[in-house]
Amino acid sequence: MLNSIYSWVDERIGLEELIRKELKEYYVPRESNVWSTLGFLTLVAFLIQAVTGIFLLTYYIPHPDYAYQSIQKIMNVVPFGWLFRSVHLVGANLLVVLLFLHGLIVFYRLSYKRPRELNWVSGVFLFFVIMLLCVTGYLLPWSQLSYWSTTILTAIPTVLPGIGDYISRFIKGGDFVSGVTLNRFFAFHVAILPFFLVLLGALHIFLIWRTGYAPIVKGGNESVEEAGGYRRQGYEGGIPFYPDLFRKNMLMVFVFLTVLFGIITFKPDLFLPAYAHIQADPTSTPLLIRPPWYFLAPYALIRAIPNKFLGISVQVILLALFFFWPFIDQRPGRNIRKRPILLGAFVVVIITWTVLTILGRL
Ligand code: HEM
Repeated sequence: MLNSIYSWVDERIGLEELIRKELKEYYVPRESNVWSTLGFLTLVAFLIQAVTGIFLLTYYIPHPDYAYQSIQKIMNVVPFGWLFRSVHLVGANLLVVLLFLHGLIVFYRLSYKRPRELNWVSGVFLFFVIMLLCVTGYLLPWSQLSYWSTTILTAIPTVLPGIGDYISRFIKGGDFVSGVTLNRFFAFHVAILPFFLVLLGALHIFLIWRTGYAPIVKGGNESVEEAGGYRRQGYEGGIPFYPDLFRKNMLMVFVFLTVLFGIITFKPDLFLPAYAHIQADPTSTPLLIRPPWYFLAPYALIRAIPNKFLGISVQVILLALFFFWPFIDQRPGRNIRKRPILLGAFVVVIITWTVLTILGRL
């Protein structure tokens, strides 16, 4: 019965043919390994955020008098509310980890080169949108942590001469973080940013479909050059996307879920410091508020440079470099090991970021 319904539908939409042509007969590089699964994992992590976020919406109240209590209710009263909230909270942090790793590996493999410059650029936009989702989501629980880290964050634009104060007030909807800010951040978190994220995500996936997976150069091999054009190519001697790479993807989804539920079970407060358990109080500034771990490095850099304007300008320049990188690096070849300066810079950036993150915690 089910089979005949499936055949009836398939005859009309051609799903079998699509799966055969796009997945079974599409060959990706033979060297594809667990690092090649990170983009897929990022997509899965994002879908988990979307589903759990929609469930949280059914009980969350975006009002300063009720937001904190509504989260307490989700955690303690609503059946399985704690599970959805914990998956959303820990999942957001793991999504950022995956995003960093995915970005690092596509950089290491020099996958951003022609014809994949736009894959990179759309990826950087996705990265910014996800960072904004993290910032806006951080305020929603309306805890001391939410309130005061948003106060610090929204003060950053004030270092800009002239328009800085205006931008800061515009983001907050007033002189202080208030119910207006909460409403604004809520709208961005649940509607405006997800809208752009879906659009950009669709563009990113379309571009990957169009250009195909990037070639992978192993060890000291000569660089693999592609046979021109922008149509995707299947790799001769490669492995089929389905079932070979798909199986690796699924295995990594399993690893991801194990880490996610491992943290929820054994370290539920990993991303909830003490101030996250106290309701926001605009009249009492806590002694020490730290931004979330992914902002510790930029935070430490701002603190290290006494001139705040200079501190922000350095970061804006770094971000611009990150965004335009495929257009700056025009050298042919896909083997980073043959580019000692680039490889050195890559390692230095990772080490500096790690050291700054540790310093940011002090
Ligand atoms: C929500 C965020 C993102 C999702 C869902 C996503 C998803 C994917 C997927 C499924 C692939 C193909 C497989 C792979 O190479 O892993 C891919 C490739 C790629 N991504 Fe992303 N990505 C995201 C963010 C980013 C970011 C932040 C960057 C760079 C800063 C980026 C740059 C690239 C590039 C250059 C490729 C082509 C590499 C290749 O074809 O092998 N992506 N992405």
